[in-house]
Amino acid sequence: MASISGLVSRVLGRPRSNEMAGAALAPPAQLDGWFNTLAMSVDRHTPIPTRLVNLALDSIRAIANGISFDDLLKRKNMQEWITIWPGEHYLLLAALMQQLRPRRVIEIGTDTGMSSLVMHRFLPAGGKLTTFDIRPWKTVEEAVFEEADFADGTLEQRLVDLSNPAEFDKHRAMLEETEFFFIDGPKDNVFEYRLMELFKQLNFKQPPILLFDDTKLASMLKFWHELTAPKLDLTSFGHWSGTGLVEWRKS
Ligand SMILES: C[S@@+](CC[C@H](N)C(=O)[O-])C[C@H]1O[C@@H](n2cnc3c(N)ncnc32)[C@H](O)[C@@H]1O
Repeated sequence: MASISGLVSRVLGRPRSNEMAGAALAPPAQLDGWFNTLAMSVDRHTPIPTRLVNLALDSIRAIANGISFDDLLKRKNMQEWITIWPGEHYLLLAALMQQLRPRRVIEIGTDTGMSSLVMHRFLPAGGKLTTFDIRPWKTVEEAVFEEADFADGTLEQRLVDLSNPAEFDKHRAMLEETEFFFIDGPKDNVFEYRLMELFKQLNFKQPPILLFDDTKLASMLKFWHELTAPKLDLTSFGHWSGTGLVEWRKS
């Protein structure tokens, strides 16, 4: 049976070295958050994703100039670490909302609602955010929502798995008018592939922007690597576990 370091060496390719393979697997330090991952090369030439580069630069500048979460931090259960940047993705989400001013936003993966509330806080007038999960927010420990958040209809949660083709089809009209997607669901090596395959059936009014969370998870590396749409790795300005910005294209 191949040793783990041999396998890692083979995956890492040049330079082959046991030290490098060992370094990839050892706990890096006493840290709050870490997981083993592997690097995947960017091995094909793709056009420079100009729209994404400009969007990223504008967003990073906006964060550096200051975006306040003071009101959000007063919420019960809201975690103070949403303000960590770079490192967490919440300030990047807020900045992208400010730059894109999307009237239709979809999130996949509500969990406690922290990212939903951040995006909702920066939603432009007349905008709407739908957050999808398979668990009702009320059953999630330390949920940050209050019932009143859903009162004016600009925020809603739907308990739907959009990788199910029948469910996806039911949401076609909403999906096609969505300008910004935050995709932070299961990352199980299945869901994201199915979703992108289903996206090919849609006729978007304008090419939407997608933000993927946790792109450095072992289960997300191949998916991110193989995505052919214009994309930009924004991990250094987003979530330490990997952040990927995409301009959706059918090809
Ligand atoms: C990492 S959490 C989301 C965190 C949240 N977006 C944030 O940034 O604060 C992932 C969520 O995806 C949800 N999930 C798992 N499978 C799903 C699916 N098929 N469709 C939608 N959500 C799913 C889980 O229940 C969980 O709440």
